[in-house]
Formats: sequence, structure tokens, C-alpha cells
Amino acid sequence: MTEIENPIAVFDSGMGGISVLRALVAHMPQENYLFFGDSLHAPYGVRPPEQVRDLTMQAAERFVEREVKAIVIACNTATSAAITELRERFPQIPIIGLEPALKPAVLAHPGGRILVMATPLTLHEHKFAALLEHYRTAAEIVPLPAPDLVGFVERDELDSPALAEYLSELTAPYRDNPVDGIVLGCTHFPFAQRQIARALGYPVSFYDGGDGAARETQRLLTLAGTRNTGTGYGQVVFTNSEETPERMALCRKLFCFPTLIGTETTIPAV
Ligand code: DGL
Repeated sequence: MTEIENPIAVFDSGMGGISVLRALVAHMPQENYLFFGDSLHAPYGVRPPEQVRDLTMQAAERFVEREVKAIVIACNTATSAAITELRERFPQIPIIGLEPALKPAVLAHPGGRILVMATPLTLHEHKFAALLEHYRTAAEIVPLPAPDLVGFVERDELDSPALAEYLSELTAPYRDNPVDGIVLGCTHFPFAQRQIARALGYPVSFYDGGDGAARETQRLLTLAGTRNTGTGYGQVVFTNSEETPERMALCRKLFCFPTLIGTETTIPAV
């Protein structure tokens, strides 16, 4: 395998990173991808940052042994906790992180009210504080921790009444006091976008970081001269720390998930 054919590694605490993998494949279908989800240790978002950093570092070490040409940390939580250390440790490899997509949301709703749904760890880390400070005067940013939402995606319970009830309670304060946009600051959440829109009961625009991460990966590979510009289709390999048949079937199901743009929601082009 030449370096150009080496895979792009995509990492998440579990299944959420598949929403980013979809964006990567849409932008660069020629590339080979090696996805690793750490479902055994999910959710990361309620763990101490040091633990998340160690788990992410271990995954990155295994990727480097397999000679991947880039690593996408398709997890806002792991990015917040570990991206600086990862880049220091592996300066030779492009490492792309995820962060809540505040920029497109604020650009689309200047002076508006923007809800940022993410894990508690993401909302407590320094990276999010810096984002808040940056956009403080441009819009009203409302952080909303949603610690249990990751579990519903991991357990493939998107159609459960329990999820509808959880989201109904979580979004209650924003039903009569509407928001203009919702930033999905956790890569698991795009899979529950329809359910979130339904719980709110009014049309709202959603923003996630998948597309931005895919564009940044493309830019860094081009810069490094390792972008595969062939015309064929690459291979996507799924691996997981919990490789049960059910888990691997869920990987394929989420990878083929119907389009995330539904009638209840709008995603403006930015
Ligand atoms: N998917 C991860 C993120 O983007 C977090 C999920 C978790 O808490 O494990 O933040």
C-alpha cells in the first residue's frame, strides 16, 4: 500500500463518529477509511478529562501503528480533552478535531438565540469557553448538556418512547421561548435530529461539525500531498472495542442512515 492508499482513521467514543465518517466519504469517496468506535467505554462525556485523554491516546497509538495517513477525532468530547496532546505526540500526522459548529449558526442567525447541545465534558472544557467568549456579542448562546442522549444512539433506541420523553423534558424550556438554531455539539446527536425537532414542535435549523471536519481533512491531505485523487471508491472498515454482531450491524445501519435533512428541519447552505 502506498501512503496515498493508506486509510484515514476516524475515531469516536462509540457510534457517533459515523455521522462524521458519512461527511468524509461524501467529500472524498476515493479514500480508504478505518473507523474505530470505543463503545465499550462510551459515554466519554461524563468521564474525567484525564481518562478521556488516555483512551483517545491509546486509540491514536494503535492507528499510528497501522500507518494511517490522518486521524479524525470524530468526537467533540475527545477533541476537547486530548487534541493538544495528540498533536504534540504525533506531529507528523494531520490530526483533525471536532468542535461545536457555532460559526455557521451565528452567521445564519446574527443576534439570534442559539442552543448548543453537547456532553457535559465538552461544555465544561476550556475549548468551549473560548468559543463562547468569541461569539458572546454576536448571538445569545445557550449551552444545554444532554448526557443521556449518547446512550440512546449507542443502544439503537432512536424510536423509543423513552427517548421522546427524555427530549420532551430536556427541551421544555425552549418550547415557549423558541431558539433560532441548534448546534449539535456531539457527533452522536445528528442521528437524533428528527426526534429533537419533534420534541421542540417548531421548525429550527440544525448545525453540526461533520462537514467542516471533512473539508479540513481534505485541505490538510492536499497540503501534505497524500490526498487520493483517483476516480474509484475506497473501502470503509468498521472496528469497535465491543465487536458484537449487533454492534457491527448498527455501524452499517447508521452509515446508511437516511438523509439527516427532514421536513421538520432546515439546514441552510453556509
Ligand atoms: N460523540 C461524542 C462527542 O462528539 C461523545 C459521546 C460520549 O459522551 O461518549 O462528543
